[in-house]
Amino acid sequence: MCGIIGYIGNREAVPILLDGLCKLEYRGYDSAGLAVLSQGRLERRRCEGKLHKLVNLMEQSPLPAAAGIGHTRWATHGRPNEENAHPHTNVKGTLAVVHNGIVENDRILHRELEAQGYKFQSDTDSEVFAHLIDKYYRPGVMLETAVRRAVSRIKGTFSIGVISQQEPGKLVAVRRGSPLILGLGEKEFFLASDVPALLSHTRNVLYVEDNELAILTSRGIKLLNFQGRLIRRKPTRITWDAIQAEKGGYKHFMLKEIYEQPQVVEDTLSGRVMGLGGDVALEEAGIPATFLKSLRRIFLVACGTSWHAGLVGKFLIESLAHLPTEVDFASEFRYRSPLVDRRSLVVLISQSGETADTLAALREARRRGARTLAICNVVGSSMTREAQGTLYTHAGPEIGVASTKAFVAQLTALHLLALYLGRRNDLLSASAATAHMDKLRQVPRLIEQVLKKDNTIQEIASQLFNHRDFLYLGRGINYPIALEGALKLKEISYIHAEGYPAGEMKHGPIALIDGRMPVVAIANKSSVTEKIMNNIEEVKSRNGSVLALVTRGNREIRKLADWVIELPAVQESLSPIINVVPLQLLAYHVAVQRGADVDQPRNLAKSVTVE
Ligand code: AGP
Repeated sequence: MCGIIGYIGNREAVPILLDGLCKLEYRGYDSAGLAVLSQGRLERRRCEGKLHKLVNLMEQSPLPAAAGIGHTRWATHGRPNEENAHPHTNVKGTLAVVHNGIVENDRILHRELEAQGYKFQSDTDSEVFAHLIDKYYRPGVMLETAVRRAVSRIKGTFSIGVISQQEPGKLVAVRRGSPLILGLGEKEFFLASDVPALLSHTRNVLYVEDNELAILTSRGIKLLNFQGRLIRRKPTRITWDAIQAEKGGYKHFMLKEIYEQPQVVEDTLSGRVMGLGGDVALEEAGIPATFLKSLRRIFLVACGTSWHAGLVGKFLIESLAHLPTEVDFASEFRYRSPLVDRRSLVVLISQSGETADTLAALREARRRGARTLAICNVVGSSMTREAQGTLYTHAGPEIGVASTKAFVAQLTALHLLALYLGRRNDLLSASAATAHMDKLRQVPRLIEQVLKKDNTIQEIASQLFNHRDFLYLGRGINYPIALEGALKLKEISYIHAEGYPAGEMKHGPIALIDGRMPVVAIANKSSVTEKIMNNIEEVKSRNGSVLALVTRGNREIRKLADWVIELPAVQESLSPIINVVPLQLLAYHVAVQRGADVDQPRNLAKSVTVE
């Protein structure tokens, strides 16, 4: 988490840094700060809280500068106040550092540096970088050499940007374990944690790998390994554009992203559907035919919303490809000695491709000899570079911290993967695959129909937003959607919500039912409709109130439920993609009516790059 940005060139640095921080604010928004070289001096400005405070401060006292670094923070060590905000400086205030990651040996280094007379000004782990660099930055030593020596003492993860008053025409950046991207402009160069921060300036980028150091000047970028050897790497051209990362007239990114979902499904299918026969072109997944023959077991590994996509994926792969599939939290998988081997395919699902636990799970799977595949949204992210194959979800940049369109894109990609595995292993007939694919291609139109229910959902939200607890119930392939609906509500409205498989309700949660806790039941037409109707009866007979998602035309439900959202008829295996949309809108409208900060909910960060 945390976002870092850096600029060097001929334009005014401060507006560029602030604009970059604005695009990175989804990575953390506890505090923000920047340091620039202005008229030969290092100047630093920091503010507790959101970026707009720093923007106001810079408007009141502008700083002319052509080079600088900036940071937006998600606190790990030390409270979110001004002292702990980045950049951190050495004691003399002549060099400054921004850091994304965690220093694991910071106590040891802290003690060592204090004993040598270094005075710490914050409670952060990151400040050790500033003092360590200072320690090695002796007369005659170049900044990059001092930085290299300093980071060789650090245990943990980092991407850092460094500037020094002594060498004003230079930025130095290093990566180990946290994302770092360099932007190549016309006589101007950038560093950033993520692509959206660069899009309004350039679409040509260089991905920095672990243990590489970059020196940026207004003449160019030099990329070196830790032994000082020059690295030649071709820039990557990013296909996203700056407009995609704007709100485009919507009040919030989250709402825009919910509305983009029909297009996202189309884009994720595009180019992968091979004519008749239901065959899927997934060569990009890099799964060799010989491996497919020996494949015995699939593991879907992810965190949060992406883990919910994995739960749906299990149903899809088991029913379409008949392969035993396990779903794991990445944070559990990495520590539990999973029984994966050469005949296992481990699929890492991640929007960002940078989630620390999922990345560690990927490495663990590779270490154990499994084949790895990333289902990922961010081109060039760490997971896509470390997995043996990648299946990209074409959701475009997702800025809202609560994931919506990336989830729907993941579900679409999992359908493709299940069809691909089923066809390649001859476990799914061509006619069954074709029928499935035809239905899948209708999904964008069905989502459009659901989006037309927005006003109804907003009205329902206006009656529910004051409640303190919610229970979400679903069965079968829609049980993960109950979890996802509850997570969306929790994340952005801070209302306590739980998702449950409806059949489990009577084994405990039923004790919670009373008139004050709305139950959201996913009850559209499926093989388990009768069962979930029984569960709704159980709630009603205990004085509970029910909001039901149902298939259009279900009259019976009107007698039972307090609120009803009618959805178009859809095949059961595709229903999660349809059902999640009203739940996203419900969470959104409840949060808006509670006055919550929808795109930047408290305590969260979009990509969780710490364990
Ligand atoms: C989603 O709304 C969450 N903010 C979060 O659960 C997220 O899905 C999780 O952190 C995983 O992120 P990833 O997909 O980028 O790996």
